[in-house]
Amino acid sequence: MSNATHPNSSDTSEDRLLDHRYDGIQEYDNPLPRWWVAIFWVTIVFSPLYILHYHFGAGSLEIESYDSEMIAFFDRQAQELLALGEVTDETIDDLMTNESMISGAKKIYQARCATCHGVFAEGGIGPNLTDGNWIHGGNPTDIYQTISEGVPEKGMLSWKRQLRPAELLGMAAYVGTLQGTDPPDAKAPEGVPFTRTVPDVEADLSEDAPTESTES
Ligand code: HEC
Repeated sequence: MSNATHPNSSDTSEDRLLDHRYDGIQEYDNPLPRWWVAIFWVTIVFSPLYILHYHFGAGSLEIESYDSEMIAFFDRQAQELLALGEVTDETIDDLMTNESMISGAKKIYQARCATCHGVFAEGGIGPNLTDGNWIHGGNPTDIYQTISEGVPEKGMLSWKRQLRPAELLGMAAYVGTLQGTDPPDAKAPEGVPFTRTVPDVEADLSEDAPTESTES
């Protein structure tokens, strides 16, 4: 095939021509620099170790370590609030929009509560937590109270010794986020239909409204 004479008579390791030709193109056989190949091998060895450690082993992914830092922060905050006796419906409402808090609480729910209340809180041994009916009151502080103190005679445990203060608050907030989620196979509502006590803020607003209009 190749009747052209090879011009590699110089034959340094740098520009040794390879034997073949593709569409008349010939190429040199220049090895990649050693340092480049070394880095390449290092990345290959590194990646399975990384995956094993962070995805399956003891390492925590960035989002997880962020969550645990946030939870530690809320823990301190919750302890301060509890020390001041200041857990209000509004404190718990605020936590409902806090993603780290809710994702932490969701994990606890799946591990500790789902056996009785169902994976989607649709109810089982315990009541459905997604409907508008409550046996022990549906204000965030009522829910917090039920989770914290439990109803031992009815089979609902008291969680205040097993969960940290912030986790208890987070659980109450998480149960709040389940409202109206309408899961499949929902257990029939138990207790009484509950409408949230109108927060004072709204009452203040409606009182303020006429005053503002008279002022303008
Ligand atoms: C061993 C089963 C069991 C587990 C585990 C359990 N619960 Fe309950 N839960 C119950 C039962 C039973 C009731 C109903 C008590 C009653 O009838 O007074 C209840 C009631 C409740 C209520 C009040 C519902 C209402 O209508 O007022 C809330 C809120 C609640 N549980 C949240 C939780 C949370 C959060 C967890 C996990 C931290 C949890 N429960 C774990 C069995 C359980």
